[in-house]
Amino acid sequence: MLSSSSFLHPSFCHLAIVKSKNFSRSPIVCLSQDGNTIEPIKKQNKEGNSNTVTQEKVHLPKSQIPQKKDEKPPPLVSALKTLAEQNAASFHFPGHNRGRAAPSSLTRLIGVKPFLHDLPELPELDNLFSPEGPILDAQQEAAKLFGALETWFLVGGTTCGIQAAIMATCSPGDVLILPRNSHLSAVSAMVLSGAVPKYIIPEYDVEWDIAAGVEMAIQELKMEGRKPAAVFVTSPTYHGICSNLREISQLCHSHGVPLIVDEAHGAHLGFHPQMPDSALQQGTDLAVQSTHKVLCSLTQSSMLHMSGNLVDREKICQCLQMLQSTSPSYLLLSSLDAARHQLSENPEAIFDEALQMALDAKNTIRGLPGISVLDSLSFPKFPAVDPLRLTIGFGWLGLSGYEADEILYEDHEIICELVGTSSITFAFNLGASREHVDRLVSGVKHVVSSAASTQGAVARVDHSISAPFADFETSLIPRDAFFASKRRVSIENSLGEVCGELICPYPPGIPVMIPGETITERALDYLLDARKKGAMISRASDPQLSTIVVCNK
Ligand SMILES: Cc1ncc(COP(=O)(O)O)c(C=O)c1O
Repeated sequence: MLSSSSFLHPSFCHLAIVKSKNFSRSPIVCLSQDGNTIEPIKKQNKEGNSNTVTQEKVHLPKSQIPQKKDEKPPPLVSALKTLAEQNAASFHFPGHNRGRAAPSSLTRLIGVKPFLHDLPELPELDNLFSPEGPILDAQQEAAKLFGALETWFLVGGTTCGIQAAIMATCSPGDVLILPRNSHLSAVSAMVLSGAVPKYIIPEYDVEWDIAAGVEMAIQELKMEGRKPAAVFVTSPTYHGICSNLREISQLCHSHGVPLIVDEAHGAHLGFHPQMPDSALQQGTDLAVQSTHKVLCSLTQSSMLHMSGNLVDREKICQCLQMLQSTSPSYLLLSSLDAARHQLSENPEAIFDEALQMALDAKNTIRGLPGISVLDSLSFPKFPAVDPLRLTIGFGWLGLSGYEADEILYEDHEIICELVGTSSITFAFNLGASREHVDRLVSGVKHVVSSAASTQGAVARVDHSISAPFADFETSLIPRDAFFASKRRVSIENSLGEVCGELICPYPPGIPVMIPGETITERALDYLLDARKKGAMISRASDPQLSTIVVCNK
């Protein structure tokens, strides 16, 4: 069997062509009548017949643990509870009036309680933008746990935190150093701030060294008599690959430049000896975490943490006020408080079980013929891979990630986080169960045996597609391109034009074309190939890619 590193096409780490389950599949579990268990619901197969995959009830002991006697309740959760218990004559928003007029189609699904607690900015619930009460307490508790000087709760996801972080550090015309394969929220942040990108190019080999790229970019700017306003790095990546942030932050600080880390996938880091340190532990100035990804808050809720004294906190506050809704959801905010509280109860041991399950799964799956598992050995220049992320390669079985995913979903009802051309990524979390892990292991064994029984299976490790932006050229900065006048041209006539829109397969949301870049043959080939393979091309105004919006010259 080939080693995982020889199997892994390096682009697999930086830009997978992906097709997310989330776009096409409905939830597969629902709450039981008693509200204490989740039950499988009937699943429709392709022919429209329904069949139930498993009949057993899955108990959720972790979410049902009663509060201990002298336990201090999370401040915002507690305030929400008190307010929801009022017998108030309410003449305020939202119009469902504490659930009294909630639409029954939804209350039949989730009950009335989410509506009862969906309250507006009542004085007792504090104000997100000038917190003095329970929100301030909750944010301070979070700052203490995550090791920040200050923490802000976000209701617009990490996207909004990244936008605020870049806007707060980069004024129009200021230079931002960032890898070209950053999440698309960094691009929208540059449109908003008017920052000038100085990209470090992710070379598609395992020797890629981000710290060296940052150093080189700083030196090049120095020779031009310029200094970057900030450096932006993503760690861990969607596949869990962590950068050496300690080295990068030392480098940035030696030049007096703040480091912003997109830690969307790493809110759990630093809480267990088997885990890599968090961005803050490694000296980052601003870290933005999707608490909703690996930790247990509601989707869309994130946290922005600040450390050190290089960033102006007032500017962060102003940017967040500008970017977030004036009606932030208290369900989202209190879910952040609750997720922090859940973690703080037992931070050293809370991940023990999930880590053990992930390790067991990796060890078993790694031993299967034709299968590879992404690990630190695959990326020697990177110090760690998140132990809760499992990426399995199927290329040597002659299967694409999509084909393997189809088998795992159709035959075993296993839903992954990310599908790539030759791999699939699974996210382990605090809700992982032995039953599900066993199902994953037997599902992968089934994929192996199906492939082995297929006559003439040929290893399909895709080396044909080279990095889509190895030769990109920026003609306009993202902000100027965003506001430029535009026209639509056919794809055949787009070569050499300045791209007027952001185009990327999503997830992982890494743009292949950024507004303002000259359209290259390589980028077009990459996108057309991705589309042919079934990837969803998002953000493009014509997702079929027959036409592209370009900037007028
Ligand atoms: C690396 C990365 N950064 C940022 C984001 C944006 O996070 P959010 O969905 O919380 O806005 C994502 C989302 O998938 C991501 O993968």
